[in-house]
Amino acid sequence: MSVRRNTVLLSVLLLTLVLSGSAFVEELDDTFMETKEPDDIWLIQFYAPWCSFCKQLDPVWHQIGSELRSLGSPVHVGKSDATASPALAKEFKVRNYPAILMLKNGVKYNYPGSRTKDGILDFADRVSGPLVRSLSSPRLFQHAISRHDVMVVYVGATSELKANLTAAAEELIVHTYFFSASREVVPKELTLTFLPAVLLFKDGTYFIYDEEQDGDLKSWIKRERFPNFFLVDSYTLYAMGESGKLVLLALLEDRHLCEDSLRYKRLVEKVATEHKETYSRKFYFGFMEGSGYIDGLIMGEAAVPSFIVVNLSNDGYFLPPGPIETEAHLLHFLDGVLDGSVEGLGGNGFTQRLRRGVYDIRTTLTPVFRDAPVLGCFLVGFPLTVGFIFCYLCIKNRPTSAEEEEDAPLRAPSLQRKKRQIDKKSD
Ligand SMILES: *[C@@H]1O[C@H](CO)[C@@H](O)[C@H](O)[C@H]1NC(C)=O
Ligand SMILES: *[C@@H]1O[C@H](CO)[C@@H](O)[C@H](O)[C@H]1NC(C)=O
Repeated sequence: MSVRRNTVLLSVLLLTLVLSGSAFVEELDDTFMETKEPDDIWLIQFYAPWCSFCKQLDPVWHQIGSELRSLGSPVHVGKSDATASPALAKEFKVRNYPAILMLKNGVKYNYPGSRTKDGILDFADRVSGPLVRSLSSPRLFQHAISRHDVMVVYVGATSELKANLTAAAEELIVHTYFFSASREVVPKELTLTFLPAVLLFKDGTYFIYDEEQDGDLKSWIKRERFPNFFLVDSYTLYAMGESGKLVLLALLEDRHLCEDSLRYKRLVEKVATEHKETYSRKFYFGFMEGSGYIDGLIMGEAAVPSFIVVNLSNDGYFLPPGPIETEAHLLHFLDGVLDGSVEGLGGNGFTQRLRRGVYDIRTTLTPVFRDAPVLGCFLVGFPLTVGFIFCYLCIKNRPTSAEEEEDAPLRAPSLQRKKRQIDKKSD
């Protein structure tokens, strides 16, 4: 009798565990927008059943759900099968999988970073709070600055500038933290000749926004929101395109850096810090571990370790004309890029886009042919045959007006590269 009661108790306990476990992440369908509470904040992953990167994200997503719950966060965590609930995915303009978005006060925020637990939790924390957070004491200011590599701080009373900053935060909160404080809260050592002011803290120093010199506030933040020298991943490098600056990278191994790699990395860091005044308006500096993204950019195999300057505004790049052994060599390379004496490669001109198209098809099909030649032949042969028949019919039935092309939106080459990189990363 008691054994049976224990069994029942145990089952109830297990069931509770299972139910509470799965309740960290809610499965959302097309009814979501009508049924959700208007004030709720949601973090949602859109996935597709065939997407292996989504499957890899699953345990992380569950941890995120459970962690936010145990922290008492107001953020609800959900996920939605975009193939089963296409209307919801359309509402959120989902293009790639997994897509990670937040919904707050009717505004949708797209997660732009790498698919790591910490990155996503940080994003959830940032977006779920106020756009501009108030720092009420020097201690809170110190706490904030110790936690964030880059942060924007408004100093002064309410003003038009603050309204402008809040408007900029509406878009840029997905990347950066925004704070506001009174003069007494920020350190006395800061030289502030006018108030109100917007300060950007990074690299152990700060920059003061000057409308005349820096132009529009939002563009200034977009331009300056990255550290001067740091470990760059493919998502960040892609996002750096918005800054309009060039990026000097030391391209290193995935892991176990060799002697040369360490030297290359130190050299870039040295130039970044010691020649900041000269180059930081035009360049960011960093190192990248693994060359997958750059391989896609240059459409070939990048040497590792090596130096490369990337122009993300136009998918262009520059390679050093000679060996780089010293700081002087590296500075010479940067000057050459700026004055045009180092030849620019790549870019987004017509022939480059054509080359990229061919390259993309080749890199997509090569592994298919290697692993499953029959499938590969089918994948290539089938569209060719269809195309052939189509052309034949077109010619035969002339003259007919060309039908408008069906929904095949041309994706920007950089986007394709990004997607492929994401695919690769999750392999
Ligand atoms: C706020 O933004 C508007 C429009 O961009 C601009 O004209 C104005 O000068 C800005 N005000 C301040 C104080 O920066
Ligand atoms: C980088 O690309 C932009 C956009 O095409 C271009 O205006 C700029 O001149 C390029 N920079 C260099 C150094 O080539």
